[in-house]
Amino acid sequence: MTLHMCHSKVKRPRPVPPLELPGSSRVQGRRAGTGLCSRGQAGFVPGHTLSVPLHGKEKMFAAYFDCPGGPENLYIKEVMKPDPGEGEVLVKVSASALNRGDLLQRRGKYPPSKGASDILGLEAAGSVAGLGPGCSGRWKIGDAVMALLSGGGQAQYVTVPEGLLMPIPKDMTFIQAAAIPEAWLTAFQLLHFVGKVQEGERVLIHAGASGVGMAAIQLVRLAKAIPIVTAGTQEKLEATANAGAAAGFNYKNEDFSKKVLEFTQGSGVDIILDCVGASHWEKNINCLSTDGRWIIYGLLSRGEIHGDLLARLLSKRASIHTSLLRPRHKEYKERLVRAFAEEVLPHFSGGASPRLQPLVDSVYPLHAIAEAHRAMEENRNIGKIVIEIPVCFKKGPLQ
Ligand SMILES: NC(=O)c1ccc[n+]([C@@H]2O[C@H](COP(=O)([O-])OP(=O)(O)OC[C@H]3O[C@@H](n4cnc5c(N)ncnc54)[C@H](OP(=O)(O)O)[C@@H]3O)[C@@H](O)[C@H]2O)c1
Repeated sequence: MTLHMCHSKVKRPRPVPPLELPGSSRVQGRRAGTGLCSRGQAGFVPGHTLSVPLHGKEKMFAAYFDCPGGPENLYIKEVMKPDPGEGEVLVKVSASALNRGDLLQRRGKYPPSKGASDILGLEAAGSVAGLGPGCSGRWKIGDAVMALLSGGGQAQYVTVPEGLLMPIPKDMTFIQAAAIPEAWLTAFQLLHFVGKVQEGERVLIHAGASGVGMAAIQLVRLAKAIPIVTAGTQEKLEATANAGAAAGFNYKNEDFSKKVLEFTQGSGVDIILDCVGASHWEKNINCLSTDGRWIIYGLLSRGEIHGDLLARLLSKRASIHTSLLRPRHKEYKERLVRAFAEEVLPHFSGGASPRLQPLVDSVYPLHAIAEAHRAMEENRNIGKIVIEIPVCFKKGPLQ
């Protein structure tokens, strides 16, 4: 016996069409066909709808895996619905989004921080469904919110400290909002908390068409600095140009450091946002300016390097910074969310100039989460892959 989700009943309180960056060839709404592996089907408990109390406790469905490995290990599991603790809010999730961190966690290489949910999902958008003791009164039942999470977002409900919630900007759908917290807060943190970007500076963004990259391009523009990107296909470079990149280079078929030096008339870039690591290190140092800041926040290639990195860094008085957001403590994240809400969030609403836009590559229903993981693992997405959480699960064949 398996379950299927009734998508027709998905409620979108604000049915505004998805935003699309001008000229982008990608649209929201591409959907995966099938979903769960047979292993996953064993995790279903047929015959229950959402949040029905079972033996006195409420349950819910969530994306889960038991053993680290490939996307085929993912399944939908019935688990206990969480209760909001002190200062926490219970959110009924309408949409979450996928991050490289989910893929690493699934492979057993990025375990959740101590005390965090082991359910996948680092961000969510939905509505407030409950308030724990000691909440400040800022949030009310039914408020449309988006959340930065340490885990647990790819489920029907998640609890989150109230300071890690943000209101969903006016005229934005849950699907668009789910594409904001992790990628945009990461990019904002790297640029402002770590890199301290200044007006007029040149910022090189690797993986420019990634979720974080597309956010970083727009935030660099918002800071009146100049975004330059690398990406692996022409289609991705075009999307980054539509998002505001001043120049873009295909790292697979040209030496990006030479191109960056040409573009900057020999002076190089002031900041590099680097999620690639070892394979790019020599080219990074070639095109980093004197006193440049090289910020490593991912290792998509690998971590070990061989060469005269330290001497070359010293000769440019350059610095290397590293950053990981998920394991940061709550107070740091609350400070980050507060700063982002004040300085950036207003720019997602109509009339703002410049106007920022979350870029949704595709939307997969929760039961097709394995397919969504495959798409990201194969580097197919431009911008964010969003996971839609259906409002009800019923008995029946998988679609
Ligand atoms: N430190 C933090 O706090 C933090 C937070 C969030 C994300 N991250 C990191 O940020 C990066 C982007 O995350 P995301 O979720 O936005 O990713 P994403 O949307 O999945 O995009 C990643 C892109 O990186 C490029 N890529 C993959 N392998 C590569 C390689 N070996 N060399 C060069 N480029 C490669 C691919 O684009 P091309 O086709 O252009 O190659 C791929 O589509 C990841 O490394 C992630 O772990 C870090």
